[in-house]
Amino acid sequence: MKGRFNIFRKRAGESEPYRQEFEVELFPGMTLLDVFHAIQAEQDPSFAYRYSCRGAICGSCAVRINGTAALACKTQALPLAEQGTVHVDPLGNMPTVKDLVADLDTFWEAYDSVRPYLERAGETHDEVFFWADKLDAKQLDQLSRAVDCIKCASCFSDCPKRAEDENFIGPQASVQLFKFFVDPRDDLHSMRRDAAASPGGVVDCDSHANCVKVCPKDVRPLRAINFVKKELSVTQE
Ligand code: SF4
Ligand code: FES
Repeated sequence: MKGRFNIFRKRAGESEPYRQEFEVELFPGMTLLDVFHAIQAEQDPSFAYRYSCRGAICGSCAVRINGTAALACKTQALPLAEQGTVHVDPLGNMPTVKDLVADLDTFWEAYDSVRPYLERAGETHDEVFFWADKLDAKQLDQLSRAVDCIKCASCFSDCPKRAEDENFIGPQASVQLFKFFVDPRDDLHSMRRDAAASPGGVVDCDSHANCVKVCPKDVRPLRAINFVKKELSVTQE
């Protein structure tokens, strides 16, 4: 069957976006990323979108599909198109560079702001370290999920709190903060606590949980946020 795709278009350097509809012949197994390739190869070579791995691991092909952020390379096109015209937009909560290419600067700035690396003030850590001795089972499970984050920015795109408050660091940066918040080897605990409790920090999360729904890697950012909140004794539960 032919699928219909209604796609957000914006030329680089021009402010006015517009929408364009494409029809693409679909085959079983074809992903939405394959549809983008077909459009670019056969209908409009100027059509812009990001991708790299094609295997749901680099995070670069995230777009909004019918209003919800998801990875284009992980989304089957045929079942989607059978339900009607598929609307595709660039990620939200960020400006657009061109067509489906979002400007991720604010996403990476939020990520940098939590200093997402282990800080050791003294000598290098040379003792044998076992996470299982330091964290309970739920924390350990959340830590392994946090490590799975591919930084696709889907959660940042669809976070209602970030939409209303551009100072809020968003779900992904909160997950990164959690990683070092629970790491007993880290020497920045008081700095991380202050950052988490400050305006725009983890405590500002309103628990909409969109981040949990859209995350392609089941990282569960809200759960990480709630661990930090609990540690700070501000959890509403
Ligand atoms: S937490 Fe999930 S949705 Fe957010 S950037 Fe990481 S992988 Fe993407
Ligand atoms: S192309 Fe890498 S995640 Fe989709």
